[in-house]
Amino acid sequence: MLTLLKLLQDGHFHSGEALGAALGVSRSAVWKQLQHLEAELNLPIYKVRGRGYRLQGPLSLLDCDALNKEGSPWLHQVCDSLDSTNAEVMRRLASGDAPPFAVIAERQTEGRGRRGRRWVSPYAQNLYYSLALRIDGGARQLEGLSLVVGLAVLSTLRSFGLAAAGLKWPNDLLINNRKIAGILLELVGDPADICHVVVGIGVNVNMQLSPEEIDQPWTSMQSESGVLVDRNLLVARLSACLQDYLGRHQREGFSALREEWEAGHLWQGRMVNLIAGVHQIQGRVIGIDATGAVRLNVDGEERAFSGGELSLRLSDDS
Ligand code: BTN
Repeated sequence: MLTLLKLLQDGHFHSGEALGAALGVSRSAVWKQLQHLEAELNLPIYKVRGRGYRLQGPLSLLDCDALNKEGSPWLHQVCDSLDSTNAEVMRRLASGDAPPFAVIAERQTEGRGRRGRRWVSPYAQNLYYSLALRIDGGARQLEGLSLVVGLAVLSTLRSFGLAAAGLKWPNDLLINNRKIAGILLELVGDPADICHVVVGIGVNVNMQLSPEEIDQPWTSMQSESGVLVDRNLLVARLSACLQDYLGRHQREGFSALREEWEAGHLWQGRMVNLIAGVHQIQGRVIGIDATGAVRLNVDGEERAFSGGELSLRLSDDS
């Protein structure tokens, strides 16, 4: 089935005869595989008499060999379908795989977002990337880590010409108030001792869903740039940026990256509501502190907030 998908990934018409010849099967076997592909992967196939079959649009499929070429900072394990790349990294760590390594999938059936949300993960359209890291410098090495990952993703997006991309504390990436990428860090082990961090990154790349299929405003690299994005190139650039930023974070600590983070923060100086479960606190964003906590001016008093369950919304009077 994947060989057939590779033949169709250019988005052009292919006759049943040509597909059958390339696969060494009959035209009716091609037809069966096409139906299977459509049903299994939820990729619509268009059939036009006299021209053949084509996908809704071209796809950029992941290529394991291209990703693991010399020069790549860690091994990229490419999977077709997973529940969640973060869950897979945790399983591999539990069975003794040594970090750093990254797991990428064409699709996730139970993609996880922050605060218990679902991360919509259709086949071959986006990036679902999880990196396993070993943390042996104690809890200090975790300070600001998720924000540093945000900087690496931001730098990757900008390298594709997406100059309007920016950060929203703690680690969302937005363009014109629409989400383009999200980050979910999960910790395994004891942060006071040796532990592992799973750095999960989801980027909307060439997503073909309609806007209402996701319950928050979103955009994608393709809709912002107008071109199909090469997802292998994206993975290579993301891994290189992560290596660079994580190295700086490890050597110099988060305080060395704090100014750069604030420069990329879209909501500096804005009035926001900090959401903490059912509680809300209104304040104006001053910036972040040396640990990555957000600093708000609340009724004339500066207060710092941190924690994985917190999020910001713009106030109506922002
Ligand atoms: C968010 O809610 O903004 C965080 C989304 C993180 C999604 C990514 S996709 C790769 C990795 N695997 C998961 O299950 N989640 C993260």
